[in-house]
Order: sequence, then C-alpha cells, then structure tokens
Amino acid sequence: MKPSLSTYHCEEIVETIYERIYEKARPYLNTRKNDIHVSLSHEFMHRLLDSYPEADRDIVVPAILLHDVGWSAVPEERHSGAFGPNANDTDAQRIHEREGARIAAAILRSLGYDDGKTKEIMAIIDGHDSRPEALSLNDKLVKDADKLWRYTPTGVDIDHARFGIDRERYLEYLDSVIDDWFFTPEAREMAREALAEARGVIPPVPQQTGS
Ligand SMILES: [Fe+2]
Ligand SMILES: [Fe+2]
Repeated sequence: MKPSLSTYHCEEIVETIYERIYEKARPYLNTRKNDIHVSLSHEFMHRLLDSYPEADRDIVVPAILLHDVGWSAVPEERHSGAFGPNANDTDAQRIHEREGARIAAAILRSLGYDDGKTKEIMAIIDGHDSRPEALSLNDKLVKDADKLWRYTPTGVDIDHARFGIDRERYLEYLDSVIDDWFFTPEAREMAREALAEARGVIPPVPQQTGS
C-alpha cells in the first residue's frame, strides 16, 4: 500500500513542494520499513507543529521526509547492527546520516529549494541519530517525531520482531526511555498515549483510509 501524506493545511503551493520532495524521497525509503516509519513520523511532526507554530515548517517537514534516505546507501546485511537497542555498528549509523544529508541536498537542489534552508536540513539529518543534543527547536522536533513512530502499535510490532525481543519486554523498554529520548513534553505525552494503545489499554485510533 502506498503510504499517504496527510494534508494538514491548505496552502497549495507549500503542500505541493512537500509532495514533490516526498515523491523524490520514496525510492530511497524502500528498505527497512522506512516508508511506514516516515509516513507515521510525518503525522507526528504535524501534531508537534500544532504545539510549536514558531518552528520552521519548511525545515522540519522536509527534514522528517528525507532524514532516513541514507539507509539506501547502507548494505541491508549491516542494518540490523546499526540501529535498535543492541546496535553496535556506529560506522553504518554514521553512513546513513552522512549519505542521507547528501541525498537530501541533491533532492532539494533539484527542486530549487532555498539554499539556506537546505543547509539547515542537511545539518539536522547529519546527526539525527548520533548527536545526543539538539541544535535548535527545529532539530528537537525532528528528533522527537523520528522516535515517536516506535511507540505506535505498528512500530512496536515491526521493531520487537526485527530486534528479536519479546513484545512485552520491548514495551517495558520503550516506557523506560521516554524521559531520556524526548525533548518536548508534548512528544512524551504522545509517546505515552501511543504506548497505551500498543498495550491495548486504550482503543486504537481509527486509521485514515485515504487513497
Ligand atoms: Fe535514522
Ligand atoms: Fe528515522
């Protein structure tokens, strides 16, 4: 199924450039379930933007759409060692960040995107996993939206299976790192809400059934 990009606002020109960025990103996201990840993180990004209207939408939306395109440059046999609770291949993790920044810049420049914004997006992508501190509010929102998908029922089901961790133990792990991982209180709240849904404590949010 083709992941959908929800329309959250009506500025057609702005939405069109995001759609064009996503179309160019999609071939690079066809690995590691990144198509599902990016679609879910993109939805969380818009929810975070509702709380932080002062953030630069033209930075954070392209950054979340493009942040993981660099996985396409990492051989699939190295993926399992490069992310997750037992990751130890920091070289592969850095390759996906550096290559991601390079590919993202090529995509944005091919669309004539603003050069200053492109540079900020590259800086966010080149460190989105390995850099523990955030460079800016924009960076905080990208880091938070990136991780939030892990808390959804879909993210939990994908990750506990590919990491080989019992589902209940994985839910406990996710719960234990909320305060460490997230920069904004809104993201912590969204993580707890999604985790409750993954645990079956609250009923699932109805899924949109767009085209
Ligand atoms: Fe990443
Ligand atoms: Fe990611």
